[in-house]
Amino acid sequence: MKVSVVGAGNVGATCANVMAHKELAEEIVLIDIKEGLAEGKALDIWETSPINLFDSKTIGATNDYSKSAGSDVVVITSGLPRKPGMSRDDLIATNAGIVKSVTENVIEHSPDATIIIVSNPLDVMCYCAYLTAKIDSSRVFGMAGILDTARYRAFLATELKVSPKDIQAVLMGGHGDTMVPLPRYTTIAGIPVTELIETSVLDGIVDRTKKGGGEIVNLLGTSAWYAPGAAAAQMVESIVRNQHRIFPCCAWLQGQYGMKDLYLGVPVKLGKSGIEKIIELQLNDSEMELLNSSANAVKEVMGVLDGMDVF
Ligand code: LAC
Repeated sequence: MKVSVVGAGNVGATCANVMAHKELAEEIVLIDIKEGLAEGKALDIWETSPINLFDSKTIGATNDYSKSAGSDVVVITSGLPRKPGMSRDDLIATNAGIVKSVTENVIEHSPDATIIIVSNPLDVMCYCAYLTAKIDSSRVFGMAGILDTARYRAFLATELKVSPKDIQAVLMGGHGDTMVPLPRYTTIAGIPVTELIETSVLDGIVDRTKKGGGEIVNLLGTSAWYAPGAAAAQMVESIVRNQHRIFPCCAWLQGQYGMKDLYLGVPVKLGKSGIEKIIELQLNDSEMELLNSSANAVKEVMGVLDGMDVF
């Protein structure tokens, strides 16, 4: 197996590091436009191999996509992160051009790859990559739901003083403040969360989850990387190990949930062919209303991309 990560910034390098530790591929290639950055980070990761005991080779390249040729999976993290005061949508003008040109290079050298988008604004960058790659949508999708659900689960673990390992949850919608955590589908070791927590406390956690990315931006002055990098690596793992795991991912909807021609976070099954199935939950009216308003927010930003002179 060969996996490439485009963008050797904090998220891309963390993703490569987690994948190397899990030995997800024989070769993990990091690519960045900045001279020496990918080579340096790949070498630094490789130098941990005798300590952490893995033999996945990590290789870096400055803008040389031939090094990524024949990748089975490519993770695209390229683009600017946000700064305090910015929404993810503010990044579209810069990141759309970057994601388009990266996707062109990726497809030229790895025409059979499955592409995982991490760049923001996530849902619309998936759309941008899909329009560029011109491959089946089962092979172009985005990482957001695992990250957002992980934040939700981490906050619940802290509040309930339980292990995060015992918390299962689903979260849907766009990767923005309109995302839809679903308490009705949240359990702690099989126990519905609503039996263990006051509604007002749970509402507070849902609200904190929606703004979880911004919370980190305000603390660090730039966006998060440990959780986003690990989340992307978990998607790669399900693909390269053909695990058929079910995760919330940003997928191209073609009628599911009554929505068509848009990328939105929904539960999917991930295996070696990419998205094997989009799972349709029986949402109630208020959950569906929240999902629709999240979809409308994503459509608005898709409209901005359609109006830009990118395609
Ligand atoms: C976040 C960024 C990566 O949510 O979108 O932290």
